[in-house]
Amino acid sequence: MRNILVTNALPYANGHLHLGHMLGYIQSDIWVRFQKLQGNQCHFVCGSDTHGTPIMLRAQKLGVKPEKLVEEMSKSHLDDFMDFEVEFDNYHSTHNKLNQEVVEAIYEKLQAAKLIDSKEILQAYDPKADMFLPDRFVKGTCPKCKAEDQYGDSCEVCSATYSPLDMINPVSVVTGERPIEKSSEHYFFKLSSLSQEIQSWIKSTDSLQPEVKNKLKEWFEAGLQDWDISRDAPYFGFPIPGTDEKKFFYVWLDAPMGYLASFQDYCNKSGIDFDNYWKKGTNSELYHFIGKDILYFHALFWPAILASVDYREPSGIFVNGFLTINGKKMSKSRGTFVSARTYLNHLKADYLRYYFASKLTAKIDDIDLNLEDFLQKVNSDVIGKVVNIASRCAGFINKKFDGVLSDKIIDQSLVDSFQSAHKEISICFENRDFAQGIRLIMQLADQANQFIDHYKPWQLIKEEGKEELVHDVCSLGINLFKMLIGYLKPVVPELATKSEQFLNITPIKWSDIPMTLGAHKINKFKPLMVRIEKEKIDMIIEETKQKQAEETGAQVEEVVKENALNLAPEIKIDDFLKVDLRIAKIIEAEHVESSNKLLRLKLDLGAEQRQVFAGIKSAYDPESLIGKHTVMVANLAPRKMRFGVSEGMVLAAGDGKDLYILEPHEGAVAGLRVS
Ligand code: 2FM
Ligand code: ZN
Repeated sequence: MRNILVTNALPYANGHLHLGHMLGYIQSDIWVRFQKLQGNQCHFVCGSDTHGTPIMLRAQKLGVKPEKLVEEMSKSHLDDFMDFEVEFDNYHSTHNKLNQEVVEAIYEKLQAAKLIDSKEILQAYDPKADMFLPDRFVKGTCPKCKAEDQYGDSCEVCSATYSPLDMINPVSVVTGERPIEKSSEHYFFKLSSLSQEIQSWIKSTDSLQPEVKNKLKEWFEAGLQDWDISRDAPYFGFPIPGTDEKKFFYVWLDAPMGYLASFQDYCNKSGIDFDNYWKKGTNSELYHFIGKDILYFHALFWPAILASVDYREPSGIFVNGFLTINGKKMSKSRGTFVSARTYLNHLKADYLRYYFASKLTAKIDDIDLNLEDFLQKVNSDVIGKVVNIASRCAGFINKKFDGVLSDKIIDQSLVDSFQSAHKEISICFENRDFAQGIRLIMQLADQANQFIDHYKPWQLIKEEGKEELVHDVCSLGINLFKMLIGYLKPVVPELATKSEQFLNITPIKWSDIPMTLGAHKINKFKPLMVRIEKEKIDMIIEETKQKQAEETGAQVEEVVKENALNLAPEIKIDDFLKVDLRIAKIIEAEHVESSNKLLRLKLDLGAEQRQVFAGIKSAYDPESLIGKHTVMVANLAPRKMRFGVSEGMVLAAGDGKDLYILEPHEGAVAGLRVS
């Protein structure tokens, strides 16, 4: 029996879970269930990640305390996990006394080991909100390629990375103010001095995926940087001892420590020995399941911290890719940013668990949820191939043989192949190659169906003297079904439980799978799982779009309210008359390559034509604009841009997200002056 501790990345408690989150949690849950079914001592802990600026600001906006926000979100996450059959042994929170004690104790040890440095750094500061701004809370123009509306850490257009202070025209996302530079003392964890320790951990573990090893190599080659683990007030987090609540631990310092605290909490409740899992030199295994975006924290900072305070390092870090839907990034406008709850409102967890399992391997590749393929695969595999075996055989057993199975095995070689697949399927599950495991299970299901098709019990039953054969065929069918359900049990727990009830057996353990049932009485067959109807998928997309529209509506209302209070300074009529507004007809419109915001428009002004680069790409397909009339500022000085000269501006209303170009009433012609 192995002793295993498994964690999954703690979800950030500022928003609801979506299907992208569920991919990782379903993967780890399947693996944990497989370990438990084998009889290993396997503990699965998680909890809410609660600190940081985004949660603090969101709570402020909602007019609630951050504690309340995270508590509610935590409850909602737990409901989602429960309904997706993700079964943690303990669910904790990083905003918790126990976690605070863990964090402070570790920090003290790091200080004692002289692994904490302090130095003054310059940062973007919002004078209006009176706070330092995390990089993502500054937006502006990329200093390299001049793309507008980029985040303060990196440019989505040219991939340059920079500091928000290097941006052109930076603004604070919090107040719209231009940030200033301000210096402040920060604390750094000396990661660079722990290179040896991390390298020896990497060498000692054989569970790291090749892609992870490559990434680590790249990072080592680029050189390890010391890590800023402090943040200035105001900040929702744990104050750093000795700083009078002026400095707080960065959320990413206390988040992974939440693994320790959640497990400690579980040990306190269950009597499990904490040290047996975390002391250096223990034989217990420790695995962290994470998404590929948070590898740096888990594969560099985390082992370095553990090594510095004499805890054991992870036996492995299991990294999964992102989820795409219908081959594309999940998108709010396409209705594919599906929340966990929206899915659950229409479909059971098992369907998605099966689909994810059929695609998951130990690789870091992204996984695509193709909705058409999802429906086809689940209906044809789980219902058409597996559940169908039970429904084809159970009727005869129930009606003709009083529910009692025959103990005669009429096709031993078929049973042999089901039994001998045990080892290979186990290896697939152990190695997280669920896709291959599912392929093997479905090959067995095909064999079982061929066996039934060969005998055709529905015909045999009409023939004289063939009753016994029908009994034997259907009994073996039920036995094969039982084995298939055993193999699928980590993946589809609800179907497994219902099947166990139908089969009238105690919960199947992994080692029980190969056993046949003998002359055993089963229960009446009730449908174990219904097919996915196409309408359900349409309803999921529809509900997602609707929720999105409500959210956008609420945001627009908010912006309108803010704008109402934020009128530009008063002007005189003469000032207004300086602006020459004209009706213009859009006669050409096309994308500007290498710009994610701009369209190039050719505008007809009656007497002349103008070229204008307009930042409306996010809202309009160029083709849809051709032939429309709009309003332009016609006397604006021409502006030289990277793509050409822009000779004016078109008018549009916007809330910072959506955009609406202005259109005159029908009848207005190009060139008319707007007054
Ligand atoms: O990426 C995230 O969503 C983080 N909340 C994960 C934290 S994992 C751990 F370190 F707590
Ligand atoms: Zn750029």
